[in-house]
Amino acid sequence: MRLEEVIEECKLFYLASQETTTTLIVWTMILLCMHQNWQESAREEVLQVFGDKESRFEELNYLKELHKILHEALRLYPLASLFTRITTIEYKLGEIIIPPGVILSMPVILQNFSFELSPT
Ligand code: HEM
Repeated sequence: MRLEEVIEECKLFYLASQETTTTLIVWTMILLCMHQNWQESAREEVLQVFGDKESRFEELNYLKELHKILHEALRLYPLASLFTRITTIEYKLGEIIIPPGVILSMPVILQNFSFELSPT
């Protein structure tokens, strides 16, 4: 890679990681404030897994309760609001033919409402 490409990749990593991670932490803190019982179970779990010792990366996998809370925060407040793709070849989606060059956008929040949107 050229130096300019490495610099651009670093910028992408910085921007893609900083905003997402901080926003997730803020929403998670808000949810923990709203649901005291979640907060209690998360705290209990952290104390059980780590106790007084320093946290180790591998042990993060044991935090099942905290993972559930993080996933719920991501479900309720998706950080990437829209997925956008452009077709390069013709696609068939059910009965619909999508020619090349079509921009497809999927609002992530609508995934939560997929049951309501399904035809009955
Ligand atoms: C909770 C945290 C994060 C969430 C929810 C998240 C979400 C996403 C999503 C949904 C995409 C795909 C967007 C698309 O294809 O349209 C994406 C792409 C990307 N994310 Fe994250 N991200 C998170 C954290 C991070 C972190 C920590 C890093 C880097 C250290 C990172 C680096 C990237 C990069 C480089 C891409 C672009 C990949 C590509 O070129 O296709 N993200 N992220």
